[in-house]
Amino acid sequence: MVKVTVLGAAGGIGQPLSLLLKLNPKVDELSLFDVVNVPGVGADLSHISTDAKTDSFLPSSKEDKTALGNALKGSNLVVIPAGVPRKPGMTRDDLFNINASIVRDLSQGIAENAPDALVLVISNPVNSTVPIVAETLKKNGVFNPKKLFGVTTLDIVRANTFLAELFPSEAKPTDFNVRVVGGHSGETIVPLYSVGESKKLYEKLSAEKKKELIHRVQFGGDEVVQAKNGAGSATLSMAYAGYKLAEAIITAQSSSSVVECTFLNLDSSIKGAAEAKKLVKDLDYFSFPVKIGPNGIEEIKYDILNEATEEKQLLDVAIDQLTKNIEKGVAFIKK
Ligand code: APR
Repeated sequence: MVKVTVLGAAGGIGQPLSLLLKLNPKVDELSLFDVVNVPGVGADLSHISTDAKTDSFLPSSKEDKTALGNALKGSNLVVIPAGVPRKPGMTRDDLFNINASIVRDLSQGIAENAPDALVLVISNPVNSTVPIVAETLKKNGVFNPKKLFGVTTLDIVRANTFLAELFPSEAKPTDFNVRVVGGHSGETIVPLYSVGESKKLYEKLSAEKKKELIHRVQFGGDEVVQAKNGAGSATLSMAYAGYKLAEAIITAQSSSSVVECTFLNLDSSIKGAAEAKKLVKDLDYFSFPVKIGPNGIEEIKYDILNEATEEKQLLDVAIDQLTKNIEKGVAFIKK
């Protein structure tokens, strides 16, 4: 039985993400929660003739915790795109105070109603919201670091697309699976173009073009914010990316394990965490490729950082910024 709950299902990301989940034949139940408009979204999706049984949950008041509890009960996988989106001129970190409270309250609901679920965090700033979820689950004594995923997949999607765009007659975006490590905001995003399938074409670029490409991946979200002109940030591409990671995790429930990059807690209970931490100056969170199995993260594929010598300087900058972002999330819960 696979039950997936989407928290923030009526939003710009939540709706297309819920649609994609509704189309997945391995999803038995799709549970939609939001503080607005979710009955309409649920009714609409429920007419689609796929197997996933769809239900929606709307709290009757700010104090009502029953709707969230009912939405979460029995979930194997919880995806969180709830929050407010980025407006022009806002960085992801400007969103912090609003989204931090939303994510804390939703995590409390997860701790009480679905403590064993795998949790995917999309709400930004991911570098800080993932520590907020972890600290909230810890407070409740139900934290399992193998089950918490910060979604950074959009950075990989963009890294693949933007490289292919530079070589229109030689490559397609699907030719690559660029490993992107670090975090999910600006210079914390480090695409490792110099290793793997992307290496051959990347090496053809001048130093200047390489710099431009990396900058485009790191700040790709701004292109969407500007083009939407006040209407929000990436929704469709983010929904696709969030779904891609959710789909991999759902696949890993029933068959062989998969490798995906995710922003995770480098807890010593995870295979490879001690080695990974050494490579990132002892940070508690970092995005690495990980092996995912039925119970979540099985192993961190940390070796990629040893191969990526060309990106050493970018990694140093990312580690420095991430230290502050992570501390901010932890401090929000501990204060
Ligand atoms: N519980 C559940 N849902 C909530 C809550 C809450 N406490 N607070 C807000 N929401 C819902 C909103 O009602 C809305 O339907 O979250 C949804 C967010 O949707 P949008 O405003 O359209 O924002 P979106 O573009 O989807 O971005 C959401 O994801 O990538 C990040 O930066 C982005 O943090 C933002 C989040």
